[in-house]
Amino acid sequence: MTDAARPVALARTAAVIPAAGRGVRLGPGAPKALRTLGGTPILIHAARAMAASRAVSLVVVVAPPDGVDGVKALFDEYPLPERTDVVVVAGGAERQDSVRHGLAALPDDVSVVLVHDAARPLVPVDTVDAVIEAVREGGAPAVVPAVPPADTVKEVEPTADGSPERVLGTPVRARLRAVQTPQGFDRATLERAHAEVTGEVTDDASMVERLGLPVVTVPGHEEAFKVTRPLDLVLAEAVLARRRVTDGF
Ligand code: C5P
Repeated sequence: MTDAARPVALARTAAVIPAAGRGVRLGPGAPKALRTLGGTPILIHAARAMAASRAVSLVVVVAPPDGVDGVKALFDEYPLPERTDVVVVAGGAERQDSVRHGLAALPDDVSVVLVHDAARPLVPVDTVDAVIEAVREGGAPAVVPAVPPADTVKEVEPTADGSPERVLGTPVRARLRAVQTPQGFDRATLERAHAEVTGEVTDDASMVERLGLPVVTVPGHEEAFKVTRPLDLVLAEAVLARRRVTDGF
């Protein structure tokens, strides 16, 4: 069956996890995805979060180019549930190179793709399922979980040396959303975006936007935050500790 003929409702769903970043903003130490939370590597938490959805039958992990064997060994040590396959491939220089490498490893029968930052280890399964559901419904080829920002956001003229930056404007906060992952896509659309869109991008959905195709949001979750700075690790440990108490997790 061709992709076009395949009903999206019967689609096999895979998750691509780019985990090839160095995580320099977190401070010195191991690559971010290999740091531990509650004794378990951040990457393993992120992969488990994808595998927690019964719709996800394959997780493609994109490892640092010199870390593929190490990441494979990690998944031997921390296996995912039996029903979830894991493939590990080497990443590239930029995040979108890493995602492209991950997409290249997908088998033909996958038609819905999630792209999930390894750096978001605690996204709840309900958020993952909501994204998959919205892609399967077919209203838009790209779906992103999003939350209203707590802060007012300003556009500035950036300075490199820490000197005061000139404020250029203040977008109306009620119209802004901070977007998280997993972002969900019709596979053919995401592949086309990665083939055709060039330039600096910080998420995959913006590449689909640049194709002129619709992208929609579903509600994100406060626990889907990205572990970027040292304080985020403290918060993530606290969330895990609370889950252990409330869910016995
Ligand atoms: O740098 P940033 O926090 O935006 O990275 C988001 C995700 O992309 C992280 O999970 C990181 O490991 C991944 N990444 C990657 N390959 C790169 C750069 C970042 O897989 N070259």
